[in-house]
Amino acid sequence: MKERENFGSRMAVIFAMAGSAIGLGNIWRFPYMVGEHGGAAFVLVYIVATLLISLPVFIAEVSVGRRSRRSAYGAMGRLSGGNRFWRAVGFLPVFIPLLIASYYSVIGGWSLSYFVDACSLKFVHDSPEAVTGVFGSLISSTWTPVIFHLVFLAACCVVVAGGVEKGIEKFSKYTIPVLFVLIVVILVYSVTLPGASAGVQYLVKPDLSEITPRTFAYAMGQSFYSLSLGMGCIITYGSYVSKKENIVISSFGTAVSDLLFAILAGFAIMPAVFAAGIEPGAGAGLIFQSVPFIFSTMGTHMPAVSAVVSILFFLTIVVAAMTSCIGLVEVGVAYLTDKYSVRRPLATFLMFLLTGSYGILCSLSYGPLADTKIAGRSIFDFSDWFASNILLLVTAFLVVNFVGYCMKMEEVRDEITNGGSIAFNDRIFAVLYFLIKWVAPVALVLIFITNFIS
Ligand code: TRP
Repeated sequence: MKERENFGSRMAVIFAMAGSAIGLGNIWRFPYMVGEHGGAAFVLVYIVATLLISLPVFIAEVSVGRRSRRSAYGAMGRLSGGNRFWRAVGFLPVFIPLLIASYYSVIGGWSLSYFVDACSLKFVHDSPEAVTGVFGSLISSTWTPVIFHLVFLAACCVVVAGGVEKGIEKFSKYTIPVLFVLIVVILVYSVTLPGASAGVQYLVKPDLSEITPRTFAYAMGQSFYSLSLGMGCIITYGSYVSKKENIVISSFGTAVSDLLFAILAGFAIMPAVFAAGIEPGAGAGLIFQSVPFIFSTMGTHMPAVSAVVSILFFLTIVVAAMTSCIGLVEVGVAYLTDKYSVRRPLATFLMFLLTGSYGILCSLSYGPLADTKIAGRSIFDFSDWFASNILLLVTAFLVVNFVGYCMKMEEVRDEITNGGSIAFNDRIFAVLYFLIKWVAPVALVLIFITNFIS
């Protein structure tokens, strides 16, 4: 066993975890979930769910990782003293990231295609109506999105094959702040578009009658997805967190920055959606239709700004998507190299074949395979729903039960308070433990059931 490196400081911990959390989940998935599930009402439920359930689950995952000093695959097995059930559970966190990587790279491919369009100044020169239509023709064609998907995935795999750690972390340290600045620039422009105020209203005035059990189910799924929970990723990060670090504060910092980023993205995208006359429930293409609209109208007043911002925007999206996708593929590769001693390039190639071919099916499900449905959903939608609304919740349920019922309370307290040395954590421990032991498991079961009946 290698000596585990630790993150240098609190900011480094938050940065690394936020780097994994902030990604397409915030900027692509959150706005379209908001649009499909009731606007401000969804945002409200999302905030409550994040603070009341996801945050305790996050702390539980970090604790399991830090205490076991193992990645997701071995953590619970080790802490339970080699119990076979918990060892077997460790397999889920290997499978889920690969499923997600398949369709994540399809979206990565779309972003890449948009980046190419931005470089040819398409969004600056074409009319707003024309650019919102680009998406429909891109995804419904057969080859173009498939090729972009494979190019995107191959690029990620090349990085993975070369060994990930150092470079990538440095990479995302720069892309996240850039994305943050760009989203604020776009936000400011977006809210000043004619007709944009309806979009702002849509995000701040909740219609409480829109809150149904289904809203909770999707908000929870989104929150887990966005915080990279329920797939062992945070357990693995936790194993690198120093024993001196206050994990309650770092987890809170990560959850809040992720939340903030999602909300900023919502305010950047939704006003433009209304200004462009796009249906908020338009689905997975929401940002790919509304953002080009912003650049096109910007292009009529300030072509140079529009050109620069559009190129930078899609470039950072591609890079942010790449860093996430690399993280997802790496999980499978690490599993194969650790467990079966497969050589790294071969392991990566196997992962490429696996996620690439399944991703092709996801991509085609917007075109030639549009009529192929699994449980009433297209292949793409089914994969996303199955991963986010089912598998992430199952894993999270197992983790909170592990912490609540398999570990001893004193052990958990010891981990959360750093052996009793953080008085503040000791004071909130009772609340946190209650949330982990009672609220989260019950909520997860209810939400799980809702997913099947609504
Ligand atoms: N949270 C990421 C996002 O919002 C997606 C993601 C989930 C992820 N799990 C991950 C990224 C693991 C990297 C590693 O886009």
